Amino acid sequence: MFDLIIRNANLPDGRKSIDIGIKAGRIAAVERSIAAQAGEEIDASGRLVSPPFVDPHFHLDATLSLGKPRMNVSGTLLEGIALWGELRPIVTREELVERALRYCDLAVTQGLLHIRTHVDTSDPRLVTVEAMIEVREKVAPYIDLQLVAFPQDGYYRAEAGIEALGRALDMGVDVVGGIPHFERTMGEGTASVEALCRIAADRGLPVDMHCDETDDPLSRHIETLAAQTIRFGLEGRVAGSHLTSMHSMDNYYVSKLIPLMAEAKINVIANPLINIMLQGRHDTYPKRRGMTRVRELMEAGLNVAFGHDCVMDPWYSMGSGDMLEVGHMALHVAQMAGIEDKNRIFEALTVNSAKTMGLEGYGMAAGCHADLVVLQAADVQEALRLKPNRLVVLRRGKIIARTAPRIGELFLEGRPATIDGGRDFVPAV
Ligand code: FE2
Repeated sequence: MFDLIIRNANLPDGRKSIDIGIKAGRIAAVERSIAAQAGEEIDASGRLVSPPFVDPHFHLDATLSLGKPRMNVSGTLLEGIALWGELRPIVTREELVERALRYCDLAVTQGLLHIRTHVDTSDPRLVTVEAMIEVREKVAPYIDLQLVAFPQDGYYRAEAGIEALGRALDMGVDVVGGIPHFERTMGEGTASVEALCRIAADRGLPVDMHCDETDDPLSRHIETLAAQTIRFGLEGRVAGSHLTSMHSMDNYYVSKLIPLMAEAKINVIANPLINIMLQGRHDTYPKRRGMTRVRELMEAGLNVAFGHDCVMDPWYSMGSGDMLEVGHMALHVAQMAGIEDKNRIFEALTVNSAKTMGLEGYGMAAGCHADLVVLQAADVQEALRLKPNRLVVLRRGKIIARTAPRIGELFLEGRPATIDGGRDFVPAV
């Protein structure tokens, strides 16, 4: 009756010792105990089984380019943009494809099977777009890749910004991007938001803008983005990425802004690793954290997701394709360490990101795609603490990656572990 059964799984919603029956690439049953047998069975042994991680904000065209053509000495956002501007004219399609595929291999082993990547459209050659379209096709059997037309150097500010973005969309890019805070003036930033939302409405596409990625509390393009979203009837299809200026905004202004964002059903994407690394750079002390107001936005009912943004590129020399590393940083920066807080952080890495990307058939319910990850952790709390190995990764009911369990971890999976020498380690209470 089933092709595969995962037995004795703990689910992200807290249910324990659940069996998951899989048939024809979909989840067919999620029950306490499935009596039927299957050709293949996986014993999860009381470990967490989750839908795959979803990264709604990444830069696959720049990833793994660290050190080319040189390192980012100041470590700032602006030097990163300048450095990428040096690399972009000399980068080849072959190199872009090779780096992106290498990252996608890493992502699969981390249980990351859905990625929305911004693709720079500032170079009129559009070799980045050609390469990422090729990658989207190549990885389709195991990763859903969404492409955003991203005018990194400004829609109006770059010489061929308007024309190149339109051409990228004609080539089959999925989402309309933008970067209003990087246009020459606030006024041009505002105009770019309107123009890009109009394009999205005309073409029936979603919107995802790098928006207000600055410490300037007067960078308020998110207000315009929300208003234009309502004006063009794009509610629920628009994402505001970063929104770091909200960290520094006046509280009274934010008390008006957040309800407007909720009315527009804006999907919020914070990028905790990058935000904590790049924001507050002009501060002495105290230094601002810079990440947007995650807890307040969640409490107001907005859909808040987290992105990895960068891995070993001109902006960020760290990163591992592990969305739990992103969640780990998020809960520290947002100071969300309670049990319910951590559940919400985990949702931001999975279901909230899936909603942002508009994924079909995502989740743990019967009828969803059998895309699942068995983690070496007992529950969500432990997964966020340990960033454990992804023991088994399934795509459409087929195993596509396995990783051996780590050994020697103390307190792993909520029980004593064996440490070197074979002594049973008993935690002191
Ligand atoms: Fe980004």
